[in-house]
Amino acid sequence: MIDLRSDTVTTPTPAMREAMLAAPVGDDVYGEDPTVIELEQRTAELLGHEAGLFCTSGSLANLLGVRLLVEPGQEVVCDVGAHIARAEMGAHAAVHGLTMRTVPSINGLVDVGAYAGVIAPNAGPYLVSTAAVAVENTHNFGGGTIQPYDQLVALGELCRAEGLGYHLDGARLWNAHVATGVSLAAYGSLFDTVSVCFSKGLGAPVGSVLVSTADRIAQARIWRKRLGGGWRQAGILAAGGLHALDHQVDRLADDHRAAGAFAAAVRDQAPRAVDVAAVQTNIVVLNTGAVPAAQVATAAKDQGVWVSALGPRMLRAVTHLNVTVDEARTAGEFVGRILASA
Ligand SMILES: Cc1ncc(COP(=O)(O)O)c(C=O)c1O
Repeated sequence: MIDLRSDTVTTPTPAMREAMLAAPVGDDVYGEDPTVIELEQRTAELLGHEAGLFCTSGSLANLLGVRLLVEPGQEVVCDVGAHIARAEMGAHAAVHGLTMRTVPSINGLVDVGAYAGVIAPNAGPYLVSTAAVAVENTHNFGGGTIQPYDQLVALGELCRAEGLGYHLDGARLWNAHVATGVSLAAYGSLFDTVSVCFSKGLGAPVGSVLVSTADRIAQARIWRKRLGGGWRQAGILAAGGLHALDHQVDRLADDHRAAGAFAAAVRDQAPRAVDVAAVQTNIVVLNTGAVPAAQVATAAKDQGVWVSALGPRMLRAVTHLNVTVDEARTAGEFVGRILASA
């Protein structure tokens, strides 16, 4: 099988497993795990922030990051395809009592005017007050799209002017950094809270880090424990993240090449299914036209290629550490043929 369902399907390399095995560990709830502390500090520094908190998942890091900026009964504004709105099982509402409003977007990209038209800071006794804005970079359901830096700056300025918090879901910020050359600190320092994941393109088995000020991270540590997310010798997992930082960031460029090869191979068979120019990182979104996406996904699986049906006519393929450029191209040929003959 060539598995392109997600970059979360990667398995740790032998070198990463060795690093995990050798990690010095301690009780992280007591703040005594040296490997966790190293990962938290290093990630915070990379992103231009004071402190970090190692979490089980991107969903938990987002849940805590948004909660630091938004009180129960207030709202966070994000785009209609945001992971926090669509794919975190309503946790922000169910656990923290926040509401969300979404703005329309094209491929998940920030349109500052759309946010300006929706936010309602200090909305008084009749309307829900907006307390924060959240953006995603790269944008998963948008097709791995990269937020233009000037738009992120402009949206940050709007948030500051209106007294709003600014959260970044940076699950795949590494991909944006590698594709654009914009430093992680330049991205990270625009925001009040940032989550990044080690378990996606970076290939670690578990883990995300939330970064912010030392005060906010101290609060987030309390929230994490309250939610049952305090963990003990978690350095075994943090070591995977540290290994990924040292060895598996620059290689994301290979995943971007593989995504381009996949998309080009689909286009050669089924030109209307894909916009090759829109492929910026490791995610390719396909339009299955008249054929249900689930049907194409099943036919592809029968031929040894796994892709995800994310909407009635939308397929997603994601390249990663365990797929070569040649395999991605071959997978694209199979999927393209299915689409062409459907
Ligand atoms: C953009 C984005 N944010 C957050 C997450 C959540 O990460 P996790 O699956 O670790 O909870 C994902 C997961 O795919 C994601 O794509």
